Order: sequence, then structure tokens, then C-alpha cells
Amino acid sequence: MTDKLFIFDTTLRDGEQSPGASMTREEKLRIARQLERLRVDVIEAGFAASSNGDFEAVKAIADVIKDSTVCSLARANDRDIARAAEALKSAASSRIHTFIATSELHMEKKLRMSREQVLEQARLSVRFARNLCGDVEFSPEDGYRSDPDFLCRVLEAVIAEGATTINIPDTVGYAIPELYGNFIKNLRERIPNADKAVWSVHCHNDLGMAVANSLAGVMIGGARQVECTINGLGERAGNCSLEEVVMAVRTRRDYFGLEVGVDVSQIVPASRLVAQTTGFVVQPNKAVVGANAFAHASGIHQDGVLKARDTYEIMRAEDVGWSANRIVLGKLSGRNAFKQRLQELGIELESEAEINAAFARFKDLADRKSEIFDEDIIALVSDESVTVEQEHYRLLSLSQRSETGERPHASVTVSAGGHEFKAESDGNGPVDASLKAIESKLSSGAEMLLYSVNAITSGSTESQGEVTVRLQLGGRVVNGVGADPDIVVASAKAYLAALNKLQSKAERVAAQG
Ligand code: KIV
Ligand code: ZN
Repeated sequence: MTDKLFIFDTTLRDGEQSPGASMTREEKLRIARQLERLRVDVIEAGFAASSNGDFEAVKAIADVIKDSTVCSLARANDRDIARAAEALKSAASSRIHTFIATSELHMEKKLRMSREQVLEQARLSVRFARNLCGDVEFSPEDGYRSDPDFLCRVLEAVIAEGATTINIPDTVGYAIPELYGNFIKNLRERIPNADKAVWSVHCHNDLGMAVANSLAGVMIGGARQVECTINGLGERAGNCSLEEVVMAVRTRRDYFGLEVGVDVSQIVPASRLVAQTTGFVVQPNKAVVGANAFAHASGIHQDGVLKARDTYEIMRAEDVGWSANRIVLGKLSGRNAFKQRLQELGIELESEAEINAAFARFKDLADRKSEIFDEDIIALVSDESVTVEQEHYRLLSLSQRSETGERPHASVTVSAGGHEFKAESDGNGPVDASLKAIESKLSSGAEMLLYSVNAITSGSTESQGEVTVRLQLGGRVVNGVGADPDIVVASAKAYLAALNKLQSKAERVAAQG
């Protein structure tokens, strides 16, 4: 058994299945580059057969990522597997991850297949995948709720067909650490060829135990791969959180005795990028990446940390990428300095036109805000990528009037598919008035599920406000993010960004699981 623990990141596949978290090709590519900098072992880039958009995203990631294995999910059928192989063709190192459900409930109610049919399909699919790719992972979906006797037969068969990784999903987040660990241990002891594959854990967080279950799968069960997502992103209560698992194993090396290849200084930048791209904000008290994760408020703690940091700190904030908000640029900074800072932040804008547009926004921001921090630049570029890729609606101007005792009023000018229109409305507050003005012309009919405002950098009212708007229309849920020192403007941008996503034609077939 190796003492290396492989980190398999599925932010771009299982994480993306979270309602509203779906990403464009460019957004996925940007996150994939950050995951490569983070040095994760495997990036599950998507589910190539689910839509043309996801196929293109997996392909684009396979084209550029060199240091991590790029993986695509595929249902256990020839079409999905061939599509995954096609998307991964150019990857320096690739993996096909195929799955089929094995619990009685899923086989009977969802697949309407018998045990023997599922066994045969699993076997044939792994055989087919192995002919196309040397690295094949197999997952029995809802594995933890499956009959262990049947699971042993399936897993022995797929290992015999050449599966190199066996992943045991707790698809519905039902497991308890000790039970899950023993479940895997038992499978590994009973399956004669178990040692021919790396065993992997994949836990959902419905009972808040995804990280604990994953670590029990490693320590009790002997798994050597953990599937996880940045910020624990994922549908329902999310997936196992990458930063928590990695920092647990690293901080308690005395107990785990395992090595992880991750560059932990890239954790916070990755967390911010995923939060800003998806609009899923990180709760302040979230371990490792929450804004308060390293903040000591009590006097006794502050005093202790000042005397000796390890009195109350088990990890160092700077090790995981927290830096004091750095003033990086100001209004006198030139295009070259801006471009260089983008490079240092690992942001690669594809064309000179994109850099020019981002630089123009930077200058505009610097006119209104004297200190520009890294976070501001990341927000500005996220904004830019949305407009360049999928702009249909764009905010041109906004003015609003609010006065104590008066009903707020807003007027907006928006460009819609190149045509300019103006609209006005009253509202309960200036944000309400602005969004009502937009809606009065666009009549999208979308239902707002969430509206939230965050300060991008803490510590001052000069900070930019970052607004997330979640809209639902015709069964689709999307998030729009907008940033501006004026939160009314940020709100209008976020609203239009969400409408732009609803406009985009990218249809998606949700992966099972
Ligand atoms: O949760 C799950 O079962 C999955 C599989 C597709 C691996 O995500
Ligand atoms: Zn999953």
C-alpha cells in the first residue's frame, strides 16, 4: 500500500451539478488551471457525453493541462465512454471514470435492470473503456447502500477487466465514519484481486460527515484516493471539502502518516476563484477558507497567539494562501503592471482584446477606489470573462435616488443584443427599484431564489460589494455575480449576468449521482 494519498478534484463535475453552479467553458478552464497550480492529482473536468458544452469544456481542459490527470465521467455505456475518450484525446494524462448504480433501490426503480444485467454492463463497459484508455476508474453508484455480496462480484469483475481505481460512493450522504471505513475494509478483504486497484472514497455531505467519512475510508478502509471539491461545492449539502481533507492529513501527519502532493499555498486562491465564479459564497466560519478561520476575537486567544502562535493555532494562515490584503495597484499603474499582476495571480486572459477590456475596467475602478487588492482584480476579471463570452445584456448606466421618507426611484440603461433601452421604476429600496426597472423592459419572468451581498475585501466601506443573484426559470437555476464599489450597480450587474446565463443555449443533462 502506498503512503501517498491521491487527491481527485471533482469541482468541475460533481461540484458543478449543484443547482446554479454550472460554468461556462472559459470559467471551467480558469478553474482547471488553478487546480493544476494546486497540484491535485486528478481533475474531473466534466461529463463529456452530457452536453456539447461539457464535451467542449473537457476537451479544452485536456488540451492545456499538463501536470494533473484529466478525467471525464461516463455512464456505463459505449456511447458515453467513447465520447469521454474523444474529449480526452489530447490530454497528457487521461482517465475515464465510468459508473452504474448497484443498490437494489437504484437498480430496480431507476435503471429497471436486474443484478445480472448490471454486472454484465459494468464488466463490458470497463472492458470497452480500457481499450480506449489505460487509466479507468469504476464507481458503483449508491455503492454504500448496495448489498456487499453483490458489490464484491461486480468489483471483482471490473478489476479483472482492468479497472485501475475502484471508487465507493456514498451517493446520498448516509454513511457514518466507522461504518463506511469498515464497509471498504470488508470489500478489500473479500475481493481476491482487490490489490490490483487503488481504492477511492467519494462522500456527500448530507449529514455533515463527508470529510469524516472520507478520512475513515482512508484510515480504516485503506483507500488511497479521496474525491473532493473546493469549498465542498456540490448539490444538496455538497461534497467532501478538498481543503479540509488535505489540511487534516497534513496537520495530523503524526496520525495519518500519508503524503499529499497538493501545494497548499494555492488553497485560498482556489477557494476564492470557485466562490467568485459560481456565486456560492463561503461561510465565514468555514474551516481553512472561511474569512474567520484564522481570526482570533477573544482577548485571551489574541494574547496567547501574540506570545506563542501555537497556543491557539494549529495551522498557519499564510501556509494555505491567506495573505494580508495587499494593495497591489492604484490609478497610476500601467497596463504592463496590470498584466504582470494577472500573471502572478495565475489569470490567463486569452486575447489582447480581453486584456484591454479588463484594463479599461481596472482604470475605471481605480478612479473610484484608491486601493486595488488582488480580490478586486479577480472579481474584475470574472466580470470580464462573463461579458466577453456570453454578453447579451450589459449595464450601460444606472442612476438612482433615495431619500429618507421618499420611495426610491431608479433609471437604468441596458444594452440588449446591441440595442440600447432605458427603463425606470420605483421600488422598496434602490436595489429593488433598479432590478424592477430592468425587469419592466426585459420581462424575463425569472424567479429570484437568492440575493446576497459580500464585501470583496474586508476592513473598510471603500471595499467593492460583490452581489450574487440566483434566478430560476423553466427548471433552470443560474447564479449571476456582479462587483462594484456601488452595491446598487453590483446588483444590476449580477442580475444581468444571471439573465445572460439563462439566455445561453448551453443545455445540460445532469449526471446521475
Ligand atoms: O455520488 C455519486 O455516486 C457520484 C458518482 C457518479 C461517482 O458522483
Ligand atoms: Zn457524487
